[in-house]
Amino acid sequence: MNTPRRLFVTTALPYANGNFHIGHIMEYIQADVWVRYQRMQGHEVHFVCADDAHGAPIMIAAEKAGITPQQFVANIAAGRKPYLDGFHLAFDNWHSTDGPENHELAQDIYRALKANGLIATRTIEQFFDPEKQMFLPDRFIKGTCPKCGSADQYGDSCENCGAVYAPTELKNPYSALSGATPVMKSSEHHFFSLSDPRCAEFLQEWTHTPGRLQPEVLNKIKEWFAKDEEGNGGLGDWDISRDAPYFGIEIPDAPGKYFYVWLDAPIGYLASLKNHFAKTGRDFDAFMADPRTEQVHFIGKDITYFHTLFWPATLHFSGRKTPNAVFVHGFLTINNGEKMSKSRGTGLDPLKYLSLGMNPEWLRYYLSAKLNGKNEDVDFNAADFMARVNSDLVGKFVNIASRSAGFIAKRFAGQLGHMTADDRALVDTLAAEAARIAECYEQRDTARALRDTMLLTDKVNAYVDQHKPWELANPKNEARFAEQGLTPEATAQRLQEVCTTCLQAFRLLSLYLKPVLPALVARVETFLNVAPMAFADATSLLPAGHTIGHYEHLMQRVDQKQLDMLFEPPAPAAIEVSATNKSAAPAPAPVASAQAADAAGQPGGEAIAPTITIDDFAKVDLRIAKIVACERVEGSTKLLRLTLDVGETDAAGQPTTRNVFSGIASVYAPEQLVGQLTVMVANLAPRKMKFGLSEGMVLAASHADDKAQPGIHVLTPWPGATPGMRIH
Ligand code: MSP
Ligand code: ZN
Repeated sequence: MNTPRRLFVTTALPYANGNFHIGHIMEYIQADVWVRYQRMQGHEVHFVCADDAHGAPIMIAAEKAGITPQQFVANIAAGRKPYLDGFHLAFDNWHSTDGPENHELAQDIYRALKANGLIATRTIEQFFDPEKQMFLPDRFIKGTCPKCGSADQYGDSCENCGAVYAPTELKNPYSALSGATPVMKSSEHHFFSLSDPRCAEFLQEWTHTPGRLQPEVLNKIKEWFAKDEEGNGGLGDWDISRDAPYFGIEIPDAPGKYFYVWLDAPIGYLASLKNHFAKTGRDFDAFMADPRTEQVHFIGKDITYFHTLFWPATLHFSGRKTPNAVFVHGFLTINNGEKMSKSRGTGLDPLKYLSLGMNPEWLRYYLSAKLNGKNEDVDFNAADFMARVNSDLVGKFVNIASRSAGFIAKRFAGQLGHMTADDRALVDTLAAEAARIAECYEQRDTARALRDTMLLTDKVNAYVDQHKPWELANPKNEARFAEQGLTPEATAQRLQEVCTTCLQAFRLLSLYLKPVLPALVARVETFLNVAPMAFADATSLLPAGHTIGHYEHLMQRVDQKQLDMLFEPPAPAAIEVSATNKSAAPAPAPVASAQAADAAGQPGGEAIAPTITIDDFAKVDLRIAKIVACERVEGSTKLLRLTLDVGETDAAGQPTTRNVFSGIASVYAPEQLVGQLTVMVANLAPRKMKFGLSEGMVLAASHADDKAQPGIHVLTPWPGATPGMRIH
């Protein structure tokens, strides 16, 4: 074999201001499939990512939540695992751009750029919020559109008429943070001098190197390079500093100045790899200095500019290795282009998908069948999803094994037989496609890899239909086969040959699908009783006499009901519990949706309790509680011990907390809960338990039938609520 490649692969670092949405998951699936393919080729791959922790929006969101930005991003980080595990995303490391490695690397890189004469300082004027004492990012300035006069528009563009302008052009500008009228204030900023001719020269060469960028991406970049007749346009200097207060990395020798988040974010790729290597005892510097190392980034089209201009220039002029390739994908839309917000992502909640018991590999298959290595948008269409999974994956592929494995087990003690020359021709046709399918994976044209694999499944199914193993196996047909000159022994042998052919073919098809369906193919490997398959295994076959294991059904079909529930908007009841201080009006009974109701027609699996009066409700004192500490309870698999702050103090005026046991250990890790707000019954009589006194109860939602719909969901208030507030 050729020397294995050494690959350093990343996906874009998601902002740590919210949970993953389905667009993130699509990016991770695309990269994960590519990484698994490379590993199946015997290559060495290091696949890392991290949370993009810095920037003004995160700082402001943390302030609103009443926690430090560090705590805020730690809370987000604690929620990542269920998504990554759930969709079989095999990152080797997940780090944070606020980690020590990134602080150090960003400062080193900056110093190198400065030594190279590429950092300049200039004084600029910007809007400043006199109340908050901070410069305002464009997003946090609002005012009246200078073009159409519509009020409350953002500082960069008007949502009403679409005009684009500078924040200084707004009429009656105000700070979205404090409402104060901003004033102009000057400040010294640090710039990366991208207008330096050295930069344009290097980037022309870097971007035009074959294999580095997709043709459609390169075309876009040419527009960015272009200058008009007067020589304007082209690459401008890049403002890389922000003034305190800012959540970010300090600029060396510039007190009160921080790197703009987009300077340190991509450096987070290196920081995550460095952190990974420190944990696994490898030499980061040696790896990055090795000319064999290939660095590739998977990103969405919206952040192309940062990755194909700023990032390679940052690396090159600080004396580092530049990316070998940047792979750009399009945006995911839901059900015919319905717009998905980049930050919130609507329409298809990945965790809801998993909690409904939907198979993650259905999604991996469906999205891979649509991604072709170009930067076109991809639409998730529910009907198409169901059709492709059910007819292709289950109907064509899984079916091959289910039609042949049983006979081998029952009639031949699990042993494979020989194949005739004709049988062998079919299997050879499949094996001959290995190199072509591999090349499709290499080019990220998974649409084609899967299409070609499905054409092969059609061939195998045609073979099954032609040779009808179920007829060969049926004793009633003995006389008919005898007329064709087949003795019962010969018929049995033919049955074994046909089923052997099917399983040999099934093994190859599984190998071709393995990058996309890792969990399913792991089960296939167990059932076929073979070692984990690599691409090179396509050149060999299972020997006659090989014994297979027990076949269990490999994959269910998508059920329309699951899709209905997936796209069902969240029930209004979930929103009703919020910490408002409005007068106590009885909440309307939650409207039970047809899909959320169980077979007996009851919402959440149980009938609404008998009517109560507002006075009955007023007896229950519900309060906002902050989970200040949380730990597992030794000797119990169900309970977590929560320490809750409900804003109480003791006689001496010292803050006190409550101890509450909650049966949620099966669904939450303690570190996910610490720092979060929730709702508790504050006037419940204390209860003595085996592990101590429980002083209240935390509210959580669950379905009455926890077998049919498992899951416990702790309530959290909308942002703005603080510990001690009563829920009316
Ligand atoms: N934090 C920056 C990236 C820094 S990389 C050094 C960022 N974060 S993001 O959370 O907004 O986006 C992360 C990735 O998700 C980006 O590659 C982005 O293109 C991708 N997507 C965001 N919405 C998407 C879809 N609707 N569809 C597909 N990918 C999308 O940008
Ligand atoms: Zn307007």
